[in-house]
Amino acid sequence: MSIERTLSIIKPDGVKRNLVGQILSRFEKAGLKIVATKMIYMSRREAEGFYAVHSARPFFGELCDFMCSGPVVVTCLEGQDAINKNRELMGATNPAQAAEGTIRKDFSLSIGENTVHGSDAVETAKVEIAYFFAETELVN
Ligand code: CMP
Repeated sequence: MSIERTLSIIKPDGVKRNLVGQILSRFEKAGLKIVATKMIYMSRREAEGFYAVHSARPFFGELCDFMCSGPVVVTCLEGQDAINKNRELMGATNPAQAAEGTIRKDFSLSIGENTVHGSDAVETAKVEIAYFFAETELVN
């Protein structure tokens, strides 16, 4: 295991329901460090670009509409095995299948409004972090 960086997004349903502090706290308690964070409104074009890999899926339009329906919190997390650790903290994409004690099990409303996004691999993490943060915004 090595020190990795990963991108987390607290989606509009999480921000709207005042869950930002609780979710960031879970990351910190698990030993992940916040190396950059900001609240933004994603434009429709940014959402489409971010989720381009899903552009052929039937839920793509709904997903992009949702991601720009309100502010989101984008965070770069760093730590030992950060990508998997974040995915374990989030739980399965579908909250109905998420394990007890995970963010999605505890907070999420549906597979679409599933509160958090996290990078799934080292290469995607690099691309996703660079999508929202300049290198100079990441604290060393
Ligand atoms: P996320 O981890 O952000 O990556 C892609 C997102 O697409 C996923 O979380 C879900 O929110 C969303 N998604 C995946 N499958 C479906 C689906 N069947 N219906 C609606 N949204 C979905």
